[in-house]
Amino acid sequence: MRFIDTHVHFTDQAFAEDAAEAIDRAAEAGVDRFLLPDIDKGERPGIFALAAEYPGRAFPMVGLYPGSVGPDWEAELDDMARYREKGPVAIGEIGLDYHYGADTADLQKAAFAAQLRLAAQWDLPVNIHLRDATEDFFRVLEECRHLGLRGNLHAFSGSYETFSRLQRYGDWYVGIGGVVTFKNSRLPEAVSRIPLDRILLETDSPYLTPTPYRGRRNESAYIPLIAAKVAQIKGVTIEEVAAVTTAGAEKLFRL
Ligand code: NI
Repeated sequence: MRFIDTHVHFTDQAFAEDAAEAIDRAAEAGVDRFLLPDIDKGERPGIFALAAEYPGRAFPMVGLYPGSVGPDWEAELDDMARYREKGPVAIGEIGLDYHYGADTADLQKAAFAAQLRLAAQWDLPVNIHLRDATEDFFRVLEECRHLGLRGNLHAFSGSYETFSRLQRYGDWYVGIGGVVTFKNSRLPEAVSRIPLDRILLETDSPYLTPTPYRGRRNESAYIPLIAAKVAQIKGVTIEEVAAVTTAGAEKLFRL
């Protein structure tokens, strides 16, 4: 079985000491490829250095994370443009977060729309971070409908209704991670109705550690735990989850 972790922050401070070991542990667990979401210009050099170190295994994104959006967001876009020739596989993680950033909502919307236009220009999928801003997210997506965007909603924890609303915008997937394993999570209900070929697996490591390792640092090596839970919910084998979600990630990100 081979898996792809479609969203992991190996350049996070949490991996300062042992990113290489964590990457090896993941490979032993079958997770031999991973996508590195970008945050802002502080993170970008590290992400592209890591991608260069693991060619064909680590795939970089470029993007300005909603939590990093400030009045200087246009300068950030200029910095992103410098990385285009280095072959990012997606624009991400981008989006809206009103949970932590309600005060920058207008700037976030402007930066988000500009990055969606960039994704269309560069013909890349988008990796979306969305928190407490669902209606504004769909408003921006509607305004950008003519761009023919494709992408995935990372760390999806929404309802089946949100998923089906997303489907109206074309080739869209949802990223399922550790939250699906949490006791009392409502996500399994949505996952039971979302077609397997619209699901991508991700850890969002070092965050959102799956059961039974909650409270510890998350790692890509835990992807099989998430896959096993998805398999159980959908009544299929873990091999099928591995094959279908890997094919979905390869197709969306053109790996
Ligand atoms: Ni993330």
